[in-house]
Amino acid sequence: MPDNTPAPQVSPNNPCPFLRALVANGYVDGHVVPLGTLTKEIGLAGGKTGVKLVTAKLATFVVAMIANGHPLRSVTSGAVLDELRYGPLDKHGAGSRILTVDAQVDEDQIKRFADFGRDYANPDGGTERGLNAQEIKTFMAENLKRDGDNARWSYPIMMQGEWPVLLEILGKGEGEARYLSVAEVRTLFVDRRFPKRITDRLQAP
Ligand code: HEM
Repeated sequence: MPDNTPAPQVSPNNPCPFLRALVANGYVDGHVVPLGTLTKEIGLAGGKTGVKLVTAKLATFVVAMIANGHPLRSVTSGAVLDELRYGPLDKHGAGSRILTVDAQVDEDQIKRFADFGRDYANPDGGTERGLNAQEIKTFMAENLKRDGDNARWSYPIMMQGEWPVLLEILGKGEGEARYLSVAEVRTLFVDRRFPKRITDRLQAP
């Protein structure tokens, strides 16, 4: 049955689709979030265990620590999720541009994203449009190219923590056939919701 509840509000100054869904569904606060809480929730969403979980949490910790431009403050009191816009991680239009600067969803950009993909066998049955790791790589390279001279040397590094990590967490299928479902990406950006298999892993808000 479709869920018709309106998507909860999240600050437009939080441009990360993943964090927006965590905030919207009450898993973390929309303002200041201690890094321990943030890394724990993101770790749960990833569903990894052992060394892989520790590595994923460490990567999240580092990203969250630098995200507001005040690493010491972030470590001691937490990341400020509604002050990420124009911070050190903001690529100023070198990303997908699915979210506008005022956090509206640009449907044309979702269509563009879908154009980089193809139809995949859905493990739940049938086929659906998605992007595998290689197609995501091409998509990111084209995003950088579109930004022209504005793109900085650090952007490709920052991008590694965005779409490829989303593929790891949200992807369906295995190996080369592991893909990010366009429909699920759309739900994440537009409705700020995760699929049930992800929320099942998260701690009830
Ligand atoms: C596993 C965790 C995470 C995933 C899967 C994820 C995924 C993404 C994705 C897919 C984008 C969109 C990029 C685009 O539109 O091209 C993004 C953007 C962004 N993320 Fe995250 N993210 C995660 C964690 C974080 C954390 C911990 C922070 C900081 C506290 C953060 C801050 C940002 C920011 C500031 C942007 C905007 C970048 C821009 O517009 O240039 N993200 N993220």
